[in-house]
Amino acid sequence: MDLGVGRAQRRHIGHSQSSEFYVVAAWLAASGGVVYPSRTGLTSALQRAASLESHPMHLRHLAALVLLCLAQRTLAALPPVPVPAENPITEPKRVLGKMLFWEEQLSTNSTIACGTCHRPAFGGADPRAGRNPGTDKGTIDDVRGSPGIVFLDHAGKPQPHPVYGSDPQVTSRLAPSNFGALWAAQVFWDGRAGPVVKDPVSGEIAIAHGGALENQVLAALANSGEMAKTGRTWAELVADVSKARPLALATGLPLDVAAAIAAAPTYSKLFAAAFGDSAITPMRIAFAIATYERTLVADQTAWDRYDAGDTTALPGRAAAGWRAMQAFHCTACHTPPLFTNNEFFQIGLRRVDFDRGRENVTHDPKDAGDMKVPSLRNVALRSRFMHTGEFTNLGSAIRFYQNSIPLPERDDIPGFGIYAFNVSQVDEADIREFLTAGLTDPRVRDEVFPFDRPKLRSEREVTTPVGSQ
Ligand code: HEC
Ligand code: HEC
Repeated sequence: MDLGVGRAQRRHIGHSQSSEFYVVAAWLAASGGVVYPSRTGLTSALQRAASLESHPMHLRHLAALVLLCLAQRTLAALPPVPVPAENPITEPKRVLGKMLFWEEQLSTNSTIACGTCHRPAFGGADPRAGRNPGTDKGTIDDVRGSPGIVFLDHAGKPQPHPVYGSDPQVTSRLAPSNFGALWAAQVFWDGRAGPVVKDPVSGEIAIAHGGALENQVLAALANSGEMAKTGRTWAELVADVSKARPLALATGLPLDVAAAIAAAPTYSKLFAAAFGDSAITPMRIAFAIATYERTLVADQTAWDRYDAGDTTALPGRAAAGWRAMQAFHCTACHTPPLFTNNEFFQIGLRRVDFDRGRENVTHDPKDAGDMKVPSLRNVALRSRFMHTGEFTNLGSAIRFYQNSIPLPERDDIPGFGIYAFNVSQVDEADIREFLTAGLTDPRVRDEVFPFDRPKLRSEREVTTPVGSQ
């Protein structure tokens, strides 16, 4: 499957998805969520859904889908989310993925969930910022990253870390939003999580195309700075999940999660509901979490309404900001409707020696220092900006393009040559208004379905507990 987002490709993706996908889409829509299949996709879904066994659930979902078709005059501008053939979206898998994403017991010492570092109200990123000192502390190569797990040895016992002591270790780049990643063929700032996924236990290819999100999950679970003790084996991860009571540490469970746990109170039962049998495997954990992520489509912004033909959707200053972003060719990289082209560029933030970025993956010197263009959807909710986390407000991230000293490594704007932005104060304020009023999905900001979530133990406690369980 091609992961590009051209119109022809979108149609192709729409057709290749399973009917279950549309059942989920209908379910999401019926619950106030989003709809992302294309018009042609909907027609074929209706045809396929009609040929399903007349299971009452399916009929109910079908009815919701039909109502939706009638009610929706325009469909979302975003392309349908590409779904790998090996991991179709189903409702039991989505809800299991939601639990696992917010499950602190996925980390060796039960202190860190995926959601610790990726929170909707902060644009899918992390409101906390720790200092990663680079090669030496207090110098220009320091980065503001995300605090992860304290350093644990092979036995899972906390040990003093040479840099962080008994404090949580800090990632060497700031957490990007997990929402923009749904359409990308490669994820992470340097794109090191690629499309082909190998089952870490069997070594067999589990996903042939389009599995960047699954690869990313496996990487985070094994990372001894983010979620794992030193050298955690996959068997140990499975043991950690098997003995956990689902979301036992969290409070305020979302309705869909609470209902699923009431129906199937153990992870074995939840995996059986999602996969047909109760085996808990790292690959299935990755399948479930990636499925959940693929349903987090943040497409209810003022810009989406504007793009669908509602010329009043962008208030005055925001409309001026939108014009400015196009005039300054910001959109050559932050390309609508995703507000990223999912390519890699060095915008001259740092000397490449501090972080070689994409070059680490491609080994091509032309890619030195290149980072994946972040989507600007919900960017205004972030509390820090860029892979270095060096800007604490949106205005300074925008002004960077105007004021920064052009480093020799800086790439040109694709198709438009060197940077010559000449962004005035008015432009900056307008762009800020556009990014805030135009590109924020209120469901993300307010953490309502499908972006709702439980409260984590670490959010309730003043200090994060340390020590293995
Ligand atoms: C300790 C904080 C932390 C935890 C825990 C964590 N992440 Fe991340 N996440 C990051 C950082 C930092 C990056 C960027 C790393 C890089 O690019 O080198 C990232 C990158 C990502 C990306 C790629 C986004 C993109 O557009 O490239 C996704 C998706 C993601 N994380 C999802 C998850 C999931 C799912 C989990 C749980 C299995 C998880 N994260 C756990 C900090 C964290
Ligand atoms: C050449 C491609 C390119 C162009 C043109 C471009 N950007 Fe970016 N933008 C990037 C990349 C790459 C990053 C991430 C850089 C990093 O962290 O090293 C980024 C980051 C950002 C961020 C921070 C996002 C976050 O999540 O931290 C904002 C805000 C932003 N750009 C706005 C703009 C605006 C406004 C313009 C036009 C004035 C613009 N960009 C032009 C590539 C581009």
